[in-house]
Amino acid sequence: MTTTTAAPKSQGLAGVTAGETAICSVGQGKLVYRGYAIDDLAEHACFEETAFLLLVGHKPDAAELSAFKDEIVGYRRLPVGAVNLIKEISKAPGAVPMDVLRTVVSYLGQFDPNCQDISPAAEQTKSRQLLAQIPTIIGHMQNVIDGRDIVEPDDSLGHAANLLWMMTGQKPSDESTKVVDVSLTLYAEHDFNASTFASRVIAGTNADMHGAVTGAIAALKGPLHGGANEKAMDMLLEVGAVENVDSYMANAFATKAKIMGFGHRVYKQGDHRAPILHALGREAAEKIGPEATKWFDVGEKVQKIMLDEKDIHPNVDFPCGMTYYALGIPVPQYTPLFVAARITGWCAHILEQHATQKLIRPIAEYVGPENLKW
Ligand SMILES: CC(C)(COP(=O)(O)OP(=O)(O)OC[C@H]1O[C@@H](n2cnc3c(N)ncnc32)[C@H](O)[C@@H]1OP(=O)(O)O)[C@@H](O)C(=O)NCCC(=O)NCCS
Repeated sequence: MTTTTAAPKSQGLAGVTAGETAICSVGQGKLVYRGYAIDDLAEHACFEETAFLLLVGHKPDAAELSAFKDEIVGYRRLPVGAVNLIKEISKAPGAVPMDVLRTVVSYLGQFDPNCQDISPAAEQTKSRQLLAQIPTIIGHMQNVIDGRDIVEPDDSLGHAANLLWMMTGQKPSDESTKVVDVSLTLYAEHDFNASTFASRVIAGTNADMHGAVTGAIAALKGPLHGGANEKAMDMLLEVGAVENVDSYMANAFATKAKIMGFGHRVYKQGDHRAPILHALGREAAEKIGPEATKWFDVGEKVQKIMLDEKDIHPNVDFPCGMTYYALGIPVPQYTPLFVAARITGWCAHILEQHATQKLIRPIAEYVGPENLKW
């Protein structure tokens, strides 16, 4: 038996340029959505403006923004079948919110008469529908988990405030709303990350948008990708207190355990989004009190040790965990909230991919056995 021993050309496509996009550029210390730097957007644009920018391609004027917001509000309510499905599966033993969300998004395709239509006009409509419906799925799911009646969307509230309202049945403070709104903008888009690339591979076969988004949700769930925001907070809770950080980290290094919320495939000198969210989250936590700032104290010590000993920086998922915890958001909903943001980037990429009419199909280097006889 002969075997080839050549290494694959690229492990995990690291460093490979796999196509073109006009939606977003990810560089060392610089993240740009359609020409606008992320810190500019985080400071000056609300999430709905960011969503419009990503989906339509330009900054909305006042009339465009108002019409876009009205359209989203109009799509917030789910078909009865989807509400019943959420009620049925959210409390099933072992139910994971990301799986519930994936299942319901897939199911929603069944109700959409335009599901199979991949024209730009139909996909712009479906993008807005999914953008509006995902917070409703998250809210209803959390209501079922908490054992409260379903909280209906509040048409007077903006996207971030309505999301928090539906999850809790309580009107969120302006501060919580602002922090979540900015987190959604920071999470909205990131070029060919794993879930977006998955959505483009699916869209590249000319499959429908609901299918491509369903696949993207499945990819985002993994702890090496979006699932890291939940795992980062789980780790801090396990550490428990500042005085436990040294021993926890020493043990993690000794066992070569990965520290969730650190490292990045592209950013090697730090993720530009992380300090933006960290500063906002810490400020919000300080107004809440020591039970919230405690986790920033623990996290900052973890961060210092990772930088001093490994030269590895936190990615956006690390401050996200502490920030959402301070706001009282249940940990298993952190990655679903990431979906509520990234749906904009995914849909923009699905539109862009469908416009190319090009199948994505790379080649593999074969490294298995050869010339065997059956
Ligand atoms: C994001 C991630 C998958 C990038 O992976 P990658 O580009 O393939 O880089 P690698 O995993 O090969 O890491 C390179 C080196 O840094 C180390 N490293 C990277 N991230 C690390 C982390 N979070 N904790 C500890 N060590 C880490 C690796 O162990 C590896 O060390 P080695 O060369 O001694 O083997 C990786 O950093 C990771 O798993 N991070 C934790 C999960 C996470 O936060 N994901 C969200 C990303 S936005």
